[in-house]
Amino acid sequence: MTARRVRLALDGPAGTGKSTVSKRAARELGYTYVDTGAMYRAVTCLAVQRGLGLTEEAAIVELAEQHPVTFQSAETGEPRVFVAGQEVTTQIRTPEISRLVSPLSAIRGVRTALVRQQQALGSAGGVVLEGRDIQTVVMPDAEVKVFLTASAEERARRRFLELQERGTPQDYDKVLTEICERDDRDSSREVAPLTAAADAAIVDTDGLTIDQVVAQIVALVRQAEGEAR
Ligand code: DC
Repeated sequence: MTARRVRLALDGPAGTGKSTVSKRAARELGYTYVDTGAMYRAVTCLAVQRGLGLTEEAAIVELAEQHPVTFQSAETGEPRVFVAGQEVTTQIRTPEISRLVSPLSAIRGVRTALVRQQQALGSAGGVVLEGRDIQTVVMPDAEVKVFLTASAEERARRRFLELQERGTPQDYDKVLTEICERDDRDSSREVAPLTAAADAAIVDTDGLTIDQVVAQIVALVRQAEGEAR
């Protein structure tokens, strides 16, 4: 008998390798990877294109409701993102969109529309959904929930090395302070705060390689597939 394909809901703060781990786990499992942050970014892109300001909430909510975000897997790894008949894969990563997406994602109507889309994308199983509120709001009944953690110092170290590699180095202490400030903001915000579901498996990534983290998660999913048979 073939194992049933389940749903993996993965979250954790920035700097835990969340996106890389989700993509790699999805590939190893033969599952579809759904980057929910990219969906908020795609709606932000559309709002900018239509010249909407952040205060025009009703119009932005209408955009989110009328234009479902879709994904296409790409051989090169990064899934392609589409909205309103156009590809926005590159545009959604620009600094302008990164700046605007956080306030836009706090608009309740936008969240309602995107949560509904995410639930539909995951309904058949065989998916890795990554992002805020996935475990608590979008799929509280996901068969596997994983919350990645790492100490603030470890996340700062990873970010410090990443910035150095990109040729835009920053002072380690400054990076650490920013990470601590972001943690406070993210875990105390009113809409979709960053918290692990009570029944999530906490995977502490300190001292582990990406391969080791992926292996742990794949094992959890395989076990759940066996139990869901
Ligand atoms: O993970 P990211 O940087 O691509 O996410 C973009 C923004 O969307 C970020 O401000 C967090 C927010 N987000 C959210 O509110 N809910 C999600 N499920 C995913 C992302």
